[in-house]
Amino acid sequence: MKGVILAGGIGSRLRPLTRVTNKHLLPVHRQPMIYYPIQTLINAGIDDIMIVTGGNSAGDFLKLLGNGKNFGLKHLNYTYQDGNRGIADALELVEHFVGDELICVILGDNIIEGNICSARNDFEKQGNGAKILLKRVERPQRFGVPVFEENTIVRIEEKPETPKSDLAVIGIYFYDPTVFDVIRGLEPSARGELEITDVNNHYISQEKMTWNKLDGWWTDAGTFESLLFASNLVADTGANNLSLRMSG
Ligand code: G1P
Repeated sequence: MKGVILAGGIGSRLRPLTRVTNKHLLPVHRQPMIYYPIQTLINAGIDDIMIVTGGNSAGDFLKLLGNGKNFGLKHLNYTYQDGNRGIADALELVEHFVGDELICVILGDNIIEGNICSARNDFEKQGNGAKILLKRVERPQRFGVPVFEENTIVRIEEKPETPKSDLAVIGIYFYDPTVFDVIRGLEPSARGELEITDVNNHYISQEKMTWNKLDGWWTDAGTFESLLFASNLVADTGANNLSLRMSG
């Protein structure tokens, strides 16, 4: 399975911190934000990784990460997203890297306490289609929210005013390589972006979507509130199953 980390975008919700610096290079406790999703993939045994970056200071990822030696990697792959046309648009750039393999996609500002090993194993057994991870949250309005009929997800609503559940679709997704055909069939949303939620809704409509609940805490770090929250969580409990001493 290949790993993809989406680390582009303009980070508008974190201005002025992101006026010069890419959001994913900002500190979360003692490490740059991008370290956490890299570690999440490696902990799940996924070591063939491509980082999609863009916007400000894109070249600094190379300076910071090089070929991933600090993570025990021999090689890291990079690509560049022009403009700001959304998460699914960024994902389309990795088609040549993925070939006919399954992929795990992580939004570069998503941080977890534990690991995604069981989800990875479940998806490998599944073999095709897609899988999302869900987590109970206090303010689902900020996220993609699943709508259930009995135990089945019938659709995902992006940032609904009146959420139909208290679960968020977190920014860690598993797809088969048909995801690129799905993306090519998307229309931009009202905010002019190709939405990952539209990709997921396509798989749901084809009855090819499964879901797991994530154990341990999860947060994104794309707003001032969540960036502080993420730093405090990592400071209090560590992340990626790493103790604080190891993460220093
Ligand atoms: C994106 C997705 C949303 C998901 C969230 C997780 O939102 O569109 O469905 O719940 O990531 O971090 P964004 O943070 O880009 O607004």
